[in-house]
Amino acid sequence: MSKLIEFDEKQQVFHLHNQNISYLFSVEKGGTLSHLYFGKRVRSYHGGLTYPKLDRGFSGNLPGDLDRTFSRDTLPKEYSGAGEMDFHSPATIVRQANGSNAVFLHYAGYEIAPGKPKLPGLPAAYVENADEAETLTVKLIDDLTGLEYDLLYTIYRDRDVIARSVKVANKGKESVHLEKVASMQMDLVGQDLEAITLPGAHVNERHPQRSRLVQGRHVFESRRGTSSHQMNPFVALVDPKTDEFAGDAWGLALVYSGNHEFELEKDQLNQLHITVGINEYNFSWKLNPGDSFQTPEALLVYSASGLNGMSQTFHSLILDRVMRSKFKKAPRPILVNNWEATYFDFTEDKLKEIVDEAKELGIEMFVLDDGWFGHRDDDYSSLGDWQVFAKKFPQGLKHFADYVHGQGLKFGLWFEPEMISYDSDLYRTHPDYLMQVPGRKPSPARNQYLLDLGRKEVRDNIFDQMTKILDGGSIDYIKWDMNRHLSDIYESDLPADQQGEVYHRYVLGLYDLFERLVDRYPDILLEGCSGGGGRFDIGMAYYCPQIWASDNSDAIARLVIQYGTSLVYPQSMMTSHVSVSPNEQNGRITPFDTRAAVAMCGDLGYELDLTKMSDEDKAAVKKQVADYKQIRELTQYGKFYTLKAPLDSNEAAWMTVSDDRNEAIVTTVEIMSYAQPYLTKTKLAGLDPDKDYEDLATGQVYGGDELMNLGFYDPTQPRKDFTAKMYHFKAVDQH
Ligand code: DGJ
Repeated sequence: MSKLIEFDEKQQVFHLHNQNISYLFSVEKGGTLSHLYFGKRVRSYHGGLTYPKLDRGFSGNLPGDLDRTFSRDTLPKEYSGAGEMDFHSPATIVRQANGSNAVFLHYAGYEIAPGKPKLPGLPAAYVENADEAETLTVKLIDDLTGLEYDLLYTIYRDRDVIARSVKVANKGKESVHLEKVASMQMDLVGQDLEAITLPGAHVNERHPQRSRLVQGRHVFESRRGTSSHQMNPFVALVDPKTDEFAGDAWGLALVYSGNHEFELEKDQLNQLHITVGINEYNFSWKLNPGDSFQTPEALLVYSASGLNGMSQTFHSLILDRVMRSKFKKAPRPILVNNWEATYFDFTEDKLKEIVDEAKELGIEMFVLDDGWFGHRDDDYSSLGDWQVFAKKFPQGLKHFADYVHGQGLKFGLWFEPEMISYDSDLYRTHPDYLMQVPGRKPSPARNQYLLDLGRKEVRDNIFDQMTKILDGGSIDYIKWDMNRHLSDIYESDLPADQQGEVYHRYVLGLYDLFERLVDRYPDILLEGCSGGGGRFDIGMAYYCPQIWASDNSDAIARLVIQYGTSLVYPQSMMTSHVSVSPNEQNGRITPFDTRAAVAMCGDLGYELDLTKMSDEDKAAVKKQVADYKQIRELTQYGKFYTLKAPLDSNEAAWMTVSDDRNEAIVTTVEIMSYAQPYLTKTKLAGLDPDKDYEDLATGQVYGGDELMNLGFYDPTQPRKDFTAKMYHFKAVDQH
């Protein structure tokens, strides 16, 4: 096996490389690490990026060294400490007993090991055997405090990704407070890049935003305690010319479900200073002598083939080496969820009618959403009381689950385990479980409050309640929801000087609950959800192979949401349902087949009252379900290409291609209809240029090269708004 990581003693340069990528950094004067390069593979490095020695005014020098041409301020960084002669945002800030925040980190050695270590308490990318990756650990030390920073870098042999994280150990004699510990830092010089970020809102998640970076500090972050609808933990840096198919793209994503911070600081020399990690807002972690702290992992992807290349690297990494679930590559069941059909207003008999209809239509799973527990008839009560609501299920939940199974469907159940209602037995028995600041009234959101998940006792209570429901063995799937963000941050078990730990402890508590759940119930398929796609992140992917992408199920709104999501996350992670028209979130009226075509981009489901549908629509659903079963392996797990991004455009198109390039499903959408339409074309990607492919609907055969270079005209009929068309191509020699 060839080496993936080398250290050149003479040049003092680390070189991490595989067939496609190289990552280089050096050790400079004063034990300073300096970033050199991350991009397309180079065979070896001969010093072309040695940082020029210049005396730059107001960028001072190393302590005790009068060399005016060496400054940590201007040198491209790899991991910097506060208080050094460096005016950029530091990677780490440490408050010490004497009130100082300064550290001076210097290089103190390295180790290279096969494989990739697990990160205690945190989800992270993994390896299945030690040969597939190597991990470099570089040690930085601050002499005065005795803090040791282990910078971990893993490079995979066959994936264009570097995983970075940091472990800080207090080897000193005094306690310190970590006020900031980034997972990674990297400076890029002489590259004029744009940033693509994924901001959004509830029912409007992950709307890609591409911006030029002017001088100054740009921060893309969440302070909501979760990864959030408002800013996904991801940034891509791209050349201004980069598009879906060509150009350089660097994707940075954090494997974390809490407050995050992506800092892009373009400095006075036009150098881009990048720092990614847990948000320093309200973060302060007490590190006693002998203790250590592990940061979440940052994933750094490089693509020389535009955004599609970047996304495909993320997709396969997340599917193959982040998700743990046995369902990660399994055909995802077509489900019907009763939420938009009934909201809280249902009886067992009403649900049985939906189940019966679902069976007729070939649907494979019924998901019982909110309202089955405590005495929950609206969103004012019962969160925290995970016992069945006898009024709705007089013979118990198992009785209903058995009915669903008897009809040949799987049974899924909704939980919102992190929450508590004032009107709940849990609150009446344990008012202290509710997270709140002593002496202050906590803020409600959707009439509900947070549990103090940092406390083991609280987690045990919720887990025990859940096991009582789950041990019955009748549950095939869980939808884990979370319908508010964190406020009133305080943990009653912690002393005053550790209250800065609460946000992160909450996330660690959440991961602990998930760990216990997936360990005990490996046969249950987990779906993540947070008021739609409010916690769509790679940390959650570790536990939940699928996530409800948005409460907005309008097909046209979903085009952008799903495109934004697909920049990082594999399409099988994205659940996507057909709902009624006019849409309940935005009132838009769309054709039924367009709603199905857009939902088939992810894991298809239905979120409507099947019993209220016309016979014509029922026949349509039956056909959609039957057709989807034929193609879902390809749509869910084929290589995903965005052909036309639906941004400022009247069109959208995407496709998935089988690994052997023998089969592809293509979907095109025309948004508005025009009386005198301009003709538009769709060109395919990822096919074998030397093969011929048949369009299975028409029998027409095209060359792969023809489909990719010439393409075909998009339909001009039917003349109506919001039309979609799906194509299925198969290589002719495969018949
Ligand atoms: C928000 C979710 O996104 C919806 O799908 C539904 O489960 C509701 N919560 C239930 O309260």
